[in-house]
Amino acid sequence: MAIEAPATRPANPRFSSGPCAKIPTFSLDLLADAPLGRSHRAAVGKTKLKDAIENTRDVLGIPADYKIGIVPGSDTGAVEMALWSLLGERKATMVAWESFGAGWVSDVVKQLKIDADVKTADYGDIVDFADIDFNTDVVFTWNGTTSGVRLPNADAIPADREGLTICDATSAVFAMDLDWDKLDVTTFSWQKALGGEAAHGVIVLSPRAVARLESYTPAWPLPKIFRMTKGGKLIDGIFTGATINTPSMLAVEDYLVALDWAKSVGGLKGMIDRATANATAIWNFCDAKPWIANLASDPAIASTTSVCLKFTDERIQDGAAFAKAVAKRLEAEGVALDIGAYRDAPAGLRIWCGGTVETSDIEALLPWLEWAFEAEIAAQ
Ligand SMILES: Cc1ncc(COP(=O)(O)O)c(C=O)c1O
Repeated sequence: MAIEAPATRPANPRFSSGPCAKIPTFSLDLLADAPLGRSHRAAVGKTKLKDAIENTRDVLGIPADYKIGIVPGSDTGAVEMALWSLLGERKATMVAWESFGAGWVSDVVKQLKIDADVKTADYGDIVDFADIDFNTDVVFTWNGTTSGVRLPNADAIPADREGLTICDATSAVFAMDLDWDKLDVTTFSWQKALGGEAAHGVIVLSPRAVARLESYTPAWPLPKIFRMTKGGKLIDGIFTGATINTPSMLAVEDYLVALDWAKSVGGLKGMIDRATANATAIWNFCDAKPWIANLASDPAIASTTSVCLKFTDERIQDGAAFAKAVAKRLEAEGVALDIGAYRDAPAGLRIWCGGTVETSDIEALLPWLEWAFEAEIAAQ
């Protein structure tokens, strides 16, 4: 039976999983200090880039001996740079539990043709890390953005591993605790958990990853935008603000502003708490409603950023069409934008819960989910 529309709407209906909601205080005026029209290699540009690197280290608690670089091509660029530069020295293990992880599997197996053990889990589940040989190079995605499943912790990764761990953390960073000692290469972009602008990627290298770069040359040629070494030595400039090619100083300014905001809400812990509060509001809603459930099969692996939901009501005739219609109805009301499940994922909804989203907006959205669900059941 159709129900009455809720009285309250989210103040900000942007629940997209990327680009994600900008910081709640965002205004273009905050970017006034961007050195527009200046060279990124002038002192003013270099200082901004260096600040972006060091503020990233500060907020995320990245160890002093890890290198942080701003690179081209968003998170994909950073991941590809790592795969093409580091793999091939030994066997690899490719781990995937949703579509982005699957993309990295395909690159390594089909493009680079590396001898790899491939371990996958279905949408909603996760691969058992206790079953992985960490003397191989292991590539995985910390948070599966399209399945709403995350690695709960890095405990299964041994400290004395011989291989490298390469982690796509783009939808985990600034929202989950990453154990840097267990991660040799970590990548992310700015447009997810910090609501930054797209374009640039960040690559974080452990001393072991740097040692691999300096001691191993892949058998294949590397394009300039992937090259992190010259004459067998790390190009240090990339990790101190002398980017490989031209960055957007507007995007850099926006990132600096977002990092400052993250500090103002309690830094990493504050950001983790915000995401957890958002996800918990949805989890509690699902527990109370018999017609909707988390796609994650176990609360221990449920994402606190990309919360993926499935409809479980037996009256639903065509699952994919139903979910799409619900998302469309919510969008038409202006209460939730871009919350349809990812195109390769099971039918359902995906609601971004990262720290730039306000819990009050999630709470205002939930009654609308029920409203749209009932309206769609009635309309079938
Ligand atoms: C886990 C994961 N990896 C990679 C990407 C691709 O990121 P980008 O568009 O920054 O290259 C995404 C985007 O949503 C993602 O969620």
